Amino acid sequence: MKVNIPLKKVVDNSYDITIDSLEKQYFDTKVAIITNPKVAGLHLGYLLSKISAKELYIITVPDGEEYKNQQTIDTILESLFNHRFNRKSLLIAFGGGVIGDMTGYVSTIYQRGIDFIQIPTTLLSQVDASVGGKTGMNNSYGKNLIGAFHQPKSVLIDPLFLTTLPSREFGAGVAEIIKMAVTFNKDFFTFLETADLTQSDILQEAIQKAVQTKADVVAQDEKEHGIRAALNYGHTFGHVIENETKYKKYLHGEAVAIGMVMANETSLKMGLISEDEVLRVKKLLEKYNLPVTYSIKDIDSFYETFFLDKKSSDTTITFILPVGLGGVKITDRCEKNLIIDVLNQFNDSV
Ligand SMILES: NC(=O)c1ccc[n+]([C@@H]2O[C@H](COP(=O)([O-])OP(=O)(O)OC[C@H]3O[C@@H](n4cnc5c(N)ncnc54)[C@H](O)[C@@H]3O)[C@@H](O)[C@H]2O)c1
Repeated sequence: MKVNIPLKKVVDNSYDITIDSLEKQYFDTKVAIITNPKVAGLHLGYLLSKISAKELYIITVPDGEEYKNQQTIDTILESLFNHRFNRKSLLIAFGGGVIGDMTGYVSTIYQRGIDFIQIPTTLLSQVDASVGGKTGMNNSYGKNLIGAFHQPKSVLIDPLFLTTLPSREFGAGVAEIIKMAVTFNKDFFTFLETADLTQSDILQEAIQKAVQTKADVVAQDEKEHGIRAALNYGHTFGHVIENETKYKKYLHGEAVAIGMVMANETSLKMGLISEDEVLRVKKLLEKYNLPVTYSIKDIDSFYETFFLDKKSSDTTITFILPVGLGGVKITDRCEKNLIIDVLNQFNDSV
């Protein structure tokens, strides 16, 4: 005998991403704003002038990637239980990608799932982390190894928050913007080559184009079974660089910038991109003071570290390679010799 559970329902999780000054909003429910002391110090006053609720709580957690872990998740859960949050309550992520990932994760597991809204305050989180519903936290085995796909109810992007962002953090966000342009949108890339992102209206346009690009990809492949993996362009190499430098020397976007240069050299060797296109990407990265060089000390060890990547299997490594500008190829069939040749270009002695 069999019992069938017919679960093949189409669930519409669509949501809007607004890129504009925050509008005043009242929520007729319990709301918790989850943030950190830095963001709260800079911008909570402004947020509270826009958002009100039947009951409003502020949950502040320590600032930093090293706190994106189970202990902080437990602190947030504890606070929600103490305030008797229920399934109709709402969480608001107010901060960069760290806060966004953790708030998303808590909203996935609290009473098996409650709603949350993203209000991202770094450029990286505005153009990338807040969009697409990936949530997660780190553990002793690595970054983002625990998590779930759980889409927010909405994303409210107010570029005003970026006025207080340190320039390196700004550059790290630009790296993710460039990533999306190179892989999916040649016109966007050309726009970035001449755009001055320090101008607020141009920056807002770039954010809108990046968010649209990511939204289009996520709409095709929400759970990263295929094309969404292309958003990891620069990350296969970048993760090794972050690992080698113990997450201290480079911000994530900076490591991704070097990773993009390495991926481009791989594409060049495979005849997927021209020398001129490789140079154009490098020039654009340099325009935002992003690093484009790296000295590999031990090529074999660098290569072996590729296998720690979430996209790798025991025997294969997945590379995301640009095809010209605006195109991309996802492959686990790169010859080891070819990759070693590329890595040798970044060798100390060369
Ligand atoms: N879920 C996803 O799809 C996704 C995608 C990319 C990255 N991420 C995650 O995002 C995280 C990185 O995000 P991030 O770069 O925003 O880092 P972050 O959240 O650590 O923020 C960087 C720093 O900027 C501060 N900050 C935030 N807003 C500010 C503002 N307006 N002015 C001044 N300082 C401000 C933060 O307090 C922090 O010190 C990583 O944990 C990464 O794994 C997730």
